[in-house]
Amino acid sequence: MPKQTLADLPDLHGKRVLVRVDFNVPQDAAGNITNDRRIRAALPTIKTLLDRGAAVLLMSHLGRPKGDPKKDAAFRMNPVGERLQQLLGCPVKKVDEVVGPQVEAAAKAMKPGDVLLLENLRFHPGEQKGDRAFAQQFAALGDAYVNDAFGTCHREDASMVAVPAAMAGKPRVVGTLVAKELEILDRLLSAPERPFVAILGGAKVSDKIGFIKALLGRVDRTLIGGAMTYTFLKAQGRGVGGSKVEADKLDVARELLALGGAKIVLPVDHLIVQRLDAPETAKVVEGDIPDGWIGVDIGPKTMTRYREEIVAARTVVWNGPMGKYEDNPYSKGTRVLAQALADAKAVTVVGGGETAEAVEEFGLDAKMTHVSTGGGAFLEYVEGTPFKALAQIDAKRA
Ligand code: 3PG
Ligand code: MG
Repeated sequence: MPKQTLADLPDLHGKRVLVRVDFNVPQDAAGNITNDRRIRAALPTIKTLLDRGAAVLLMSHLGRPKGDPKKDAAFRMNPVGERLQQLLGCPVKKVDEVVGPQVEAAAKAMKPGDVLLLENLRFHPGEQKGDRAFAQQFAALGDAYVNDAFGTCHREDASMVAVPAAMAGKPRVVGTLVAKELEILDRLLSAPERPFVAILGGAKVSDKIGFIKALLGRVDRTLIGGAMTYTFLKAQGRGVGGSKVEADKLDVARELLALGGAKIVLPVDHLIVQRLDAPETAKVVEGDIPDGWIGVDIGPKTMTRYREEIVAARTVVWNGPMGKYEDNPYSKGTRVLAQALADAKAVTVVGGGETAEAVEEFGLDAKMTHVSTGGGAFLEYVEGTPFKALAQIDAKRA
């Protein structure tokens, strides 16, 4: 059922809007944000609310803090607040608490156009427990609730479910980002133009069984790459040398191969090395991978074949890199496919953190129809999992 959006919100002048965003961004060991895509993706919602005279109260989690105050310092929202302030071009006030008197005072002091960022929601045990009393404290702070955290929509954390539940009667809508993600994914799932090609890569088959099954029922072709290739090849009794294989998932791989039949295309050649840290040993092999060698990328014949399928498609969905793309000598397959998507006259949707980051690194993100901010959420939505978080959002009026 279509959800209400920012356009459905009443007059916001002088109102406080509680916005759940997904600012769970990757950081390096020193705490620097290595990719701010999720922060940039929330800007349209924040700007729209500010333009309409609201005060915006932002809440997010960051990483998976363990409840150890010393170690958890690395999960504070300060770097996120600083980056948001730069990107937004207006002051962002950050409070060091999740709930409590300090938060209440800061929220009550807000004026139209103010932006307040709360501390990492997961510092409070109530967040991941979906605790109602915890949620009630947020609910009291806002005149309206906006869910713009697509990347977290598959979670049942308090800020995603119990907070909007506690705000029943006040407007509860999705933000611009969530509306866009849902629109494009719904289009992909309900009426894709054909040929519809899926590209599946990444390390593990086991992470994506439901996703692969869901797609096999819908697509015309599934192109396989990444380390999951070797589990599929091994399941077919092929030689994979020392490549990474999920030995306990061979049955699952066989089941998926039987389910997909001719729709599933596996690589015909591979880039192989003797050791991961020895790119100078790299060579291309067709067919089986010999003992003592490890597959790290798809080979040139596979790249050509996959490129042909992609440029002939009208809809393409891609999740998971083709090889160990983060090491430059092994990134070619992923790069060639990203370029093929950029060249295709198709609706192209890229999902999953790694794949999205790869496409950005290649400078090709703007050439895609849509790069999802969801990792797990993207996979689960395509699988058809109903999201409790979205069930709390008001439906569009008929
Ligand atoms: C994500 O990046 O998957 C979301 O932000 C949710 O985070 P989580 O997987 O730690 O729940
Ligand atoms: Mg996750």
